[in-house]
Amino acid sequence: MDASASLLELRAVCKRYGTGAAAVDVLSGVDLTLEAGASLAVLGPSGCGKSTLLNCIGTLDRPTSGEVLLEGADWQRLAPREIARLRARRIGFVFQLHHLLPQCTVWENVLLPTLADPSAPPGPEAAERAARLLERVGLSARKNHRPGELSGGERQRAAVVRALINRPALLLADEPTGSLDAASAESLGDLLAGLNREEGVTLVVATHSAELARRMARTGRFEAGRLVLS
Ligand SMILES: Nc1ncnc2c1ncn2[C@@H]1O[C@H](COP(=O)(O)OP(=O)(O)OP(=O)(O)O)[C@@H](O)[C@H]1O
Ligand SMILES: [Mg+2]
Repeated sequence: MDASASLLELRAVCKRYGTGAAAVDVLSGVDLTLEAGASLAVLGPSGCGKSTLLNCIGTLDRPTSGEVLLEGADWQRLAPREIARLRARRIGFVFQLHHLLPQCTVWENVLLPTLADPSAPPGPEAAERAARLLERVGLSARKNHRPGELSGGERQRAAVVRALINRPALLLADEPTGSLDAASAESLGDLLAGLNREEGVTLVVATHSAELARRMARTGRFEAGRLVLS
């Protein structure tokens, strides 16, 4: 880790799906620099490449070419074990459909990432953080419920807690309010903006919602496979 490096830097990131005549260039040279504590909304029509970009940043998909530096190091150069460690320790994901485990309670779901990383905070510390974050998002009274017993907004809030449990430096959220009603979407927006301010977590949020985008300090809009920042 290079202490003087930006939290996230993309250099000429390209992603092509398929080959030959069927090839589709989704990302065509994305450049981006974000310092720690930044917040960015990624906007653009369906199919423009928002999820692809988040996946390439978050080590879930590999760019066809270009560099993705997290704290100064290109994750693509790391060994698979190191990539898994980086993903578990430094990156949190919130997906459009929460992806909570249906058979587990909220409490078990949010603590799950601490089990995947043997060097994560030990039990009591993780439990204390889980309790504090659940309180912060107003879910303390729901911690023993299963996802099927929660509203859409409550599930999304649980997913945010799960994404934050290991104190990631970078939170990637892919249309986190996509399945929510206006009131739940607003409260999730409050939550993300508040966590950015209070915990300093860097946010990259792909969204179709202008409301949510307004809460981020910067906006990036896809144009012809590139991200144009404003
Ligand atoms: N695994 C894949 N193989 C082939 N094409 C893919 C694959 N994943 C995505 N694509 C294509 O890449 C393009 C970008 O998809 P992506 O999911 O990144 O869009 P998006 O901006 O997130 O859209 P939405 O707003 O609908 O979520 C689409 O045309 C999609 O069909
Ligand atoms: Mg998408």
